[in-house]
Amino acid sequence: MADKTKNESLGKAKAAKQDEFYTQYVDIQKEVESYLEFDPDTFRSKIVYCNCDDPFESNFFKYFAANFNKLGLKKLITTSYDGSPIAGQGTLFPEYNEGNGKRQKPKALAVTLDHVKDEDGDGAANIDDVKLFLKRNKAARIALKTDDQYPGGDFRSAECVALLKDADIVVTNPPFSLFREYVALLVEHGKKFLVIGNTNSITYKEIFPLIKDNRLWLGCTNFNVGMFFEVPDEWEHFHHIDKETGRKIARVSTSCWYTNLDHGRRHNPLNLMTMADNLRFSKNLRGKAAYDRYDNYDAIEVGTYKEIASDYDGMMGVPVTFLAKHNPDQFEILGYEKSYQLQTRKYEIQVQVDKSGKRSKVTKLNDGAAIKVDRPPTDQTYYIVDGEHYIQQYKRIFIQRRTQRARGKKK
Ligand SMILES: C[S@@+](CC[C@H](N)C(=O)[O-])C[C@H]1O[C@@H](n2cnc3c(N)ncnc32)[C@H](O)[C@@H]1O
Repeated sequence: MADKTKNESLGKAKAAKQDEFYTQYVDIQKEVESYLEFDPDTFRSKIVYCNCDDPFESNFFKYFAANFNKLGLKKLITTSYDGSPIAGQGTLFPEYNEGNGKRQKPKALAVTLDHVKDEDGDGAANIDDVKLFLKRNKAARIALKTDDQYPGGDFRSAECVALLKDADIVVTNPPFSLFREYVALLVEHGKKFLVIGNTNSITYKEIFPLIKDNRLWLGCTNFNVGMFFEVPDEWEHFHHIDKETGRKIARVSTSCWYTNLDHGRRHNPLNLMTMADNLRFSKNLRGKAAYDRYDNYDAIEVGTYKEIASDYDGMMGVPVTFLAKHNPDQFEILGYEKSYQLQTRKYEIQVQVDKSGKRSKVTKLNDGAAIKVDRPPTDQTYYIVDGEHYIQQYKRIFIQRRTQRARGKKK
């Protein structure tokens, strides 16, 4: 198999495996409750739909069912997928663990809760009452059918799309391999959502325009710390075993929340130093006479959000991690480095020299923000065009201060 094809299939296999990573209760609780700090009524009188969630297993179902009254939900709908390989391994519905010792695999189901009350009379309405309610009210779960195109419970199936149309907020961790299609469906139906995805999705051509247009942003949980997930038993590269549940836990360093629900962090402006102070005090800039400028974009290079200059009105290139600090009232997002309309120069024949000294003709330099350097660096890949040397910055987003721009426009 050619290397490229082999890498692609390995990538797909990895994505398919990550489709079966299960979110921890505490991570859902932490994220959802951050929205309540900003607006306690975020979920009040809303229909919440978890559309990639086996209710037997999903901590999304458990969290929203257990906090139904606290959040003031109108309804909670959860649908499971026919193809789910671990369906029925959970504990909420013990009848699935009964029989000849082998677990039955339940078919795709929709489970709907429109109230949670004290079913067992112990004075509190909690997850035990949800279990009892579902045991007593078989009508609260209905089987989902396969349609012409999709298996039962597939988020794209006619029945699930009908449920989606009725929902106000969709909250889940969808299959990583279908993320583009998944978000597109939510956007097409004008839904509010809070979903987990991979940080690499930020620069997808289907996702970045939504971020740029302030129709999608990152959630509250710190984007740089990664997240821990419950993984299937056969998963070999796990991080630890949870002492309470005995389940294998893996760390995904590139996981984050994507949402269009408002939260407090995006209204906090970044506290920044002036350009002159950055050049005097900042780690990466100290000793330089000026910020580096790109050769192929009319912008300065800012290697970390901390070094954004508070008094610079032009375009700045910042790493993707800036988005975790982005306040849309403070900065406007102008594009991603592959927004070729922002490019001021195209390179023709280029030679790439990698760290080991290997030279090859490439066109890669056109995909990034390039800085011209006096001497070829010894510790990183560089490019040669017409005898000049260039280095390329890793994934840059272009931003501009909003207040100054707005002022300029008014003139
Ligand atoms: C990453 S797992 C997360 C499960 C659960 N939402 C959670 O966070 O614990 C994605 C889930 O989506 C299910 N799934 C895969 N393809 C699906 C589809 N086309 N429609 C609906 N669910 C799907 C998988 O079986 C899996 O249970």
